[in-house]
Amino acid sequence: MEEKRVAFITGATTGIGREIALTLAEEGFNIVVNCRKEPEEYEEQKKEIEKNNVKSLFVQGDVSVFEDAEKMVKEIIDKFGRIDVLVNNAGITRDNLLLRMKKEDFEDVINVNLIGTFNITKNVVPYMMKQRYGRIINMASVVGISGNAGQANYSASKAGIIGFTKSLAKELGSRNILVNAIAPGYIQTRMTDVLPEKVKEEIQKQIPLNRLGEAKDVAKVAKFLAGEESSYITGQVINVDGGMLI
Ligand SMILES: NC(=O)c1ccc[n+]([C@@H]2O[C@H](COP(=O)([O-])OP(=O)(O)OC[C@H]3O[C@@H](n4cnc5c(N)ncnc54)[C@H](O)[C@@H]3O)[C@@H](O)[C@H]2O)c1
Repeated sequence: MEEKRVAFITGATTGIGREIALTLAEEGFNIVVNCRKEPEEYEEQKKEIEKNNVKSLFVQGDVSVFEDAEKMVKEIIDKFGRIDVLVNNAGITRDNLLLRMKKEDFEDVINVNLIGTFNITKNVVPYMMKQRYGRIINMASVVGISGNAGQANYSASKAGIIGFTKSLAKELGSRNILVNAIAPGYIQTRMTDVLPEKVKEEIQKQIPLNRLGEAKDVAKVAKFLAGEESSYITGQVINVDGGMLI
């Protein structure tokens, strides 16, 4: 059996997830990247991770499909025999005001962000329970706390993730499984690149640290929650937002 701890990150080929995968590789974790295309498509990222003298596994699947979650977890257990850290990071937006929001836009966002988090966690937790060790990090958002016009679907999914996180922290604490959420503010990734420059400038004005966040800002907190320094923290939501929500 592998001695290194194993970290499984969903939606980990771009943005925040990709940065978390690399940061945890630098910390010495073997890394499992959940991807959407064939694993062969990600040779460059695989090399980048394995430069850190760790192993990697790319598992293809859609987190919103329960059978995909089952299949991916089985692949991981077959290769590494364990999962120590799970980062539920995969997420989408389908922004619109309620009057223009289609039912599918609401369902798609809930299916990927919230049900996806359930699907993966449900399949991973039995192994963490057997190990009597686990760290689950769920990617929420500040808008799951504050709400946001034009994001009723996304905010609801992220608020749901916060409730899920706190409930699981209570259920799983006695098994030495810690469950926390990160609530990023505005982080520069392809998810936010689509916003017009004017909107970005307006957002920046509301941020006390006077800059937009980077994926690295979030990855550093994920590293803390995945490591030994956070051993007495569970059920928390940590805002990584430059003070945006104060
Ligand atoms: N960028 C921000 O400002 C910001 C703020 C708050 C929260 N977040 C959250 O951070 C997480 C990462 O977002 P990002 O900004 O890096 O954007 P991103 O679009 O780069 O990352 C999302 C990833 O999820 C993957 N994904 C989407 N649907 C999937 C599915 N059904 N199954 C598996 N993977 C799927 C995508 O392929 C992509 O790699 C998301 O949960 C997002 O909601 C981002």
